[in-house]
Amino acid sequence: MATAARTFTRALRTSARPAFAAVPRAAPRTAFTAAPRSGVAAVRRAAFQQGGRRYYSSESSSSSESTEQKSGSSRTAAIAGALALVAIAGYYATTLSGSSGPRTAKDYQAVYDVIASRLEENDEYDDGSYGPVLVRLAWHASGTFDKQTGTGGSNGATMRFAPESDHGANAGLKAARDFLEPVKKQFPWITYSDLWILGGVCAIQEMLGPNIPFRPGREDKDVAACTPDGRLPDASQAHDHLRNIFYRMGFNDQEIVALAGAHALGRCHPDRSGYSGPWTFSPTVLTNDFYKLLLDEKWQYKKWDGPKQFEDKKTGTLMMLPADMALVQDKKFNEWVKKYAADNDLFFKDFSAVIVKLFELGVPFKEDVKPFVLKTSN
Ligand code: HEM
Repeated sequence: MATAARTFTRALRTSARPAFAAVPRAAPRTAFTAAPRSGVAAVRRAAFQQGGRRYYSSESSSSSESTEQKSGSSRTAAIAGALALVAIAGYYATTLSGSSGPRTAKDYQAVYDVIASRLEENDEYDDGSYGPVLVRLAWHASGTFDKQTGTGGSNGATMRFAPESDHGANAGLKAARDFLEPVKKQFPWITYSDLWILGGVCAIQEMLGPNIPFRPGREDKDVAACTPDGRLPDASQAHDHLRNIFYRMGFNDQEIVALAGAHALGRCHPDRSGYSGPWTFSPTVLTNDFYKLLLDEKWQYKKWDGPKQFEDKKTGTLMMLPADMALVQDKKFNEWVKKYAADNDLFFKDFSAVIVKLFELGVPFKEDVKPFVLKTSN
């Protein structure tokens, strides 16, 4: 879909950005305006990482790495005797056949790197990236969680099956599942449940968002674990509905608003949700623009045959859902919209924390599995 937004985003992602300067912004970003893409990432990430610290791989995986080292030395010993040969066979069966061997952060980094390069390569999709739809897949896999019953959530990847794959809210997510399928083929040991969340983590980081610590350990479930329809939010509804849905998962008002900032990314598709258009001018770069635009632009009903939605008065190219508008209409939500519009670092910090919470809802992690941050591609 070639659109003005796509052209804009491309300009933004590739190099110097006069186009960036043309976007109305409450706070100028001189530091970002002149920087190339990697510079933007570096500046933002440096701010978030507090002194450049990256919680990368080896930090949290010493125990599993030593397990691998042990298995390496038993391989050496195996050359000498039949017993050890059996051990070698066992090791390779585990590693190559896809059953659950000891996995280190390095293994997940390898999966991350393949997803990241597929994102880079497949730039003909939508506004130039599969990133937004990967984020949506991870969110819809997680957002079915019900804290009362402990059902739903990312532990299971039950959207692989009908009826969950056919739920109206999940329309279009096949594109994201298909995008990740070759990655699953390449790394058969990873569960779909972990892969879909890793896809979301990778997409957010690669779209210049904050670091999102990742913790593996989700297990796939069968069709019987599919959740009933209606657990995900309905875009035509307002604040009461949003609170019902997100409180059920265990979130508060601040967290609801922080999560909604993901609508800086991607677009609505008439053949999926019925709604149309992107929320921001840079739909493949995560910023706090969703909040800024909500507050700064004048929004009017779009005149069309589709469902009730809003368009910005100035250009008529951006959109807001009724559920998005509820965030400015509701007093408590609005306080957080203002805070995030004024402070991108605060948004990044809170967004990272809340999306990790979302991605981990209902997952019974083993105690010794600690989160780690995976390295971005630039
Ligand atoms: C607050 C309640 C929410 C409602 C009512 C809502 C509704 C929607 C709708 C109707 C679309 C358009 C789907 C399409 O036509 O392709 C969409 C897209 C999207 N949503 Fe939400 N959403 C909500 C919360 C969230 C959250 C919590 C996240 C992630 C943290 C998220 C991430 C996204 C992304 C990234 C897209 C773009 C997908 C694409 O470009 O294909 N949304 N959402």
